[in-house]
Amino acid sequence: MRRYLIPAGAVLCVVVMSGWIGAQEFRGNPDKGEAVYKAQCLRCHGRLGDGNGPDAQGLIVQPKDFHTLPSRGRTDFELLIAISNGVLFSPMHSWRGRLKDQEMLDVIQYIRALAPERATS
Ligand code: HEC
Repeated sequence: MRRYLIPAGAVLCVVVMSGWIGAQEFRGNPDKGEAVYKAQCLRCHGRLGDGNGPDAQGLIVQPKDFHTLPSRGRTDFELLIAISNGVLFSPMHSWRGRLKDQEMLDVIQYIRALAPERATS
């Protein structure tokens, strides 16, 4: 009996874990994100996501250029934290309450479409 218990436990573990990882991979829709981006983010981050929006000139802390290597190296989760919480001491305020969770996921995928994520390995 004990002989079967360990493999059964391992299989169960893999099944549970894959469900969990699957849930983590839930992605936004870049087409919907484009509308959010153009309405809310373009004025600072620019049409191409290079930080050259029409409102960027007047800012002391410049909007992030999403094409830089550090920016492209960030995970979706890190971008979500920046959007959701804002960036301290910068004009990038928190969007929590202004954007729905789904809209944040959508806009992240649009940023990825403008400036693809860099492979980290
Ligand atoms: C008022 C101008 C302004 C607007 C509007 C704005 N941002 Fe930003 N954003 C900034 C600034 C400035 C920074 C950079 C802060 C810093 O240098 O750390 C930033 C940083 C970011 C970062 C972090 C990037 C990184 O590589 O760390 C993300 C992601 C981001 N913004 C997404 C958005 C999204 C999505 C929107 C629209 C919903 C938006 N921003 C609207 C000014 C703005």
